[in-house]
Amino acid sequence: MTDAANLDELFPRRHERPLGSVIGGSLSSGLSVRLDPGFTLEKLAVGRYVVAQGRESGRHFFGIITDIALDSTNPELAHHPPDFGDEFTAEVYRGQVAYGTVHVSPMLMLDPDDETPRPVKTIPGHFSAIYEASAQDVERVFGPEDETHFFLGTPLEMDQVQVNLDLPRFVERSSGIFGKSGTGKSFITRTLLAGIIKSGLASTLIFDMHNDYGWAVKDESGREYKGLRQLFPDGRVRVVTLDEDTSRARKSKIDRVLKIGYQQIEPEDVEMLSGLLGLSDVQTGALYFLRRHLGPDWIAKLLDEAQGSDEIADLLDSGRIVAGTLGAIQRKFEFFRRMGFIVPGQGDDAVDEIFLSLSKGTSVVLEFGTYGNTLASYVLVANYLTRRIHERYVHQKNMAAGAQADEPRPLTIVIEEAHKFLDPAIAGHTIFGNIARELRKYNVTLLIVDQRPSGIDDEVMSQIGTRVTCLLDNEADIRAVFSGVSGAGALKEVLARLDTRQQALILGHAVPMPVVVRTRDYDESFYAAVGLAEGKELKARAEKGKDTLFGD
Ligand SMILES: Nc1ncnc2c1ncn2[C@@H]1O[C@H](COP(=O)(O)OP(=O)(O)O)[C@@H](O)[C@H]1O
Ligand SMILES: [Mg+2]
Repeated sequence: MTDAANLDELFPRRHERPLGSVIGGSLSSGLSVRLDPGFTLEKLAVGRYVVAQGRESGRHFFGIITDIALDSTNPELAHHPPDFGDEFTAEVYRGQVAYGTVHVSPMLMLDPDDETPRPVKTIPGHFSAIYEASAQDVERVFGPEDETHFFLGTPLEMDQVQVNLDLPRFVERSSGIFGKSGTGKSFITRTLLAGIIKSGLASTLIFDMHNDYGWAVKDESGREYKGLRQLFPDGRVRVVTLDEDTSRARKSKIDRVLKIGYQQIEPEDVEMLSGLLGLSDVQTGALYFLRRHLGPDWIAKLLDEAQGSDEIADLLDSGRIVAGTLGAIQRKFEFFRRMGFIVPGQGDDAVDEIFLSLSKGTSVVLEFGTYGNTLASYVLVANYLTRRIHERYVHQKNMAAGAQADEPRPLTIVIEEAHKFLDPAIAGHTIFGNIARELRKYNVTLLIVDQRPSGIDDEVMSQIGTRVTCLLDNEADIRAVFSGVSGAGALKEVLARLDTRQQALILGHAVPMPVVVRTRDYDESFYAAVGLAEGKELKARAEKGKDTLFGD
């Protein structure tokens, strides 16, 4: 052991100064680490990423700091602290009798000869050294950035180091972006979507409630950011709008306007709105009856926009529906008249066209314009399209199973205010609940964006593979984000202490261990990195073919 080179091999990190050493703990409750007096505890923070080196095995343990505390060897100290101004005594106590401890949740371990870290099944022994993680440690766990590993942010206090998300795993199951309002959910979502679109791993259908994704996105100070249609001007992203006037006023490039015909709306579409329109159970039940008796033009007839008063009078006379119920439905259906994207007649073939785009790998941003302010219109349209597109995916998937069609491209559907679609009372029988539960059976998964995850059905939450969570301060919301995650207790502390903006805890399917990041800036350098290509360069790329889109 006198040979210096030999020592380096045994303790490759020994040239670095450890943060401290393990003095106790357990696998389930985490490690207590006594801080080296040379380290000031005030500079640490929960969420920081650390590595322990097992004393005997040489095994590395990766973990995160989940709590920070003060301790002392002498209980008397609490009763007789050194006088203010007595720096000498304070200095003597500090580090010897009085010291700092941090609590570390170990997550992964890596044996000296192993390539990939595995979940921890043991802990480092007494007095094992704990280090701040290095760039190599982070890369060893999260992998280098490449076509399928997408750089989403940097670990706390490590600006130059990338945390890369495993994109194939991210889109393989439904995922969620959570956090209070204003914490950066839309920015993270847009960043991630750019990564998914660039990778070509899945098409995305984005129900864009607040004009956050398609074109020229404005923040609250009026600053403008590029939307996905601008980042990918080569046709990989199409914008469909419900509100042509607003889209045009914003100078958004649009590819088509979506109109839904009265005749295309089915009772199932309206049932999703029963809560929002205030339809009682009896009224909701009557919708099916009315559709059967009045035929495809049922809504126009009820709104008195089509010939049908005789039929309605007959229904009332026969006593099969009472006037009160009918009147209430007619009143509540006035909603359709106010929604400019709902038009008399048959509407158009938007569903088929959108399905075709998606199944071929093109992403679609559905801009709501001013209709995004009406929750009922958001819920109506998201349900309307998703039900029909999912149906076509199921069909095509079944055809593919019989070798009669190509597999449809995997599809990720993005919804905001997700709890409105997935609340426990309705998640059991809505299309979004089904998609979350059937996993990726039909190549369709969800990306849900929500500020109130406690409003989402538990069973659905437990199916959410990857969770990217910004600051949440409501106890119930924090609990919901961790539902189905073992050993989440300590992480709750981390989540409750994130910055109010642009910081997130990532956990689940697409990362080997939970990690706190400062999310990547969405700016010019990001545009360049995802390959915003215009003019000549775009043409050159198009000629070289799709494979080169990843290049440089
Ligand atoms: N990655 C980022 N890059 C640049 N600015 C960001 C980023 N994340 C958040 N911000 C800033 O924070 C604000 C709120 O983010 P936003 O995504 O709109 O929050 P949320 O969707 O959670 O309400 C944005 O308008 C922007 O100014
Ligand atoms: Mg938002």
